[in-house]
Amino acid sequence: MDRAFADRKTEEAVRAGIRALATVEDCSAAWPVRPIGNAWSRKYYDGDFHLFEPPPPPPSRPAVSLVFVHTKDGNTGADNPGDLGGGPTDLHLIYEGLSRVAANGVLAGASTVGRTVFFTVWHPELVSLRRELGLPRHPAQIVVSNDGRIDLDSMVFNEPEVPVFMLAGAGCRTKHAAEFLRRPWVTVVPTDASGLGGALARLRADHGIERVSAVGGRTIATALIDQWLVQDLYLTTSAIDGGEPNTPFYCGKQPPKYATIVRKTETGTDQPIKFEHLALT
Ligand SMILES: NC(=O)c1ccc[n+]([C@@H]2O[C@H](COP(=O)([O-])OP(=O)(O)OC[C@H]3O[C@@H](n4cnc5c(N)ncnc54)[C@H](OP(=O)(O)O)[C@@H]3O)[C@@H](O)[C@H]2O)c1
Repeated sequence: MDRAFADRKTEEAVRAGIRALATVEDCSAAWPVRPIGNAWSRKYYDGDFHLFEPPPPPPSRPAVSLVFVHTKDGNTGADNPGDLGGGPTDLHLIYEGLSRVAANGVLAGASTVGRTVFFTVWHPELVSLRRELGLPRHPAQIVVSNDGRIDLDSMVFNEPEVPVFMLAGAGCRTKHAAEFLRRPWVTVVPTDASGLGGALARLRADHGIERVSAVGGRTIATALIDQWLVQDLYLTTSAIDGGEPNTPFYCGKQPPKYATIVRKTETGTDQPIKFEHLALT
């Protein structure tokens, strides 16, 4: 891991003005969830964070949680994600924080993998919580592409100590075969016309990936929802309108139904973000 990058990300997380959330509604007792947290996270999250745990027997695929921030008018697209108004509480407590602290892997669609992106936790309290949960420092990086519109120079593909799983269609496999071969830490998991379920099952069966944090964008999120591969959603709603118009996190034909696990609101600001942990029903 590039030391300067890691130091900068850690410094930003420590210095960010994270504000505490306050619980508005808590229905977690009604759901199969596992509480996790430490004193720091409980202070800022206002209690335990919940991991959705499908009841036994264990399913053949990983548990997949979606994570999104959208504007008050429901947009998720933006060249600069900061323009969506999630602010430091969403970025450092939820997004690069609790939503992935217990994940074996973070999954993103090809268009969401920028050059200087690396999907992990940075705040020392979250690094410590991840260690307490018995997990390696960084989650595996999972990228999905059919046709190979990916940037192999992205940091995601170039940290030899962190496994990468490339969920790749035939076009992507052909286009980048040589580049994948040059990176033995990249495992190509073929996808096929039947969807992403088979590739996710391989991640669990062959590579021990039991919990995935899926960070979008909306195209891959819609595919995962339409294929019934998502259990729950960590959704932040900012206090502002904006973003790229007509970019809801679900852009398919059958919007899913949700039930509330918890709802929270940010404190200490007159423009609070709202946070919801929702089960897909
Ligand atoms: N607000 C948020 O929380 C949030 C989160 C993430 C991203 N974003 C924003 O959303 C935008 C990107 O979203 P997006 O919808 O354009 O792109 P995306 O979902 O990140 O990626 C789309 C690409 O993923 C691959 N893909 C998608 N569905 C697939 C499937 N079923 N099977 C195989 N591959 C599949 C394809 O890659 P190939 O073309 O290579 O085949 C496709 O072009 C950016 O502006 C980003 O900043 C926002």
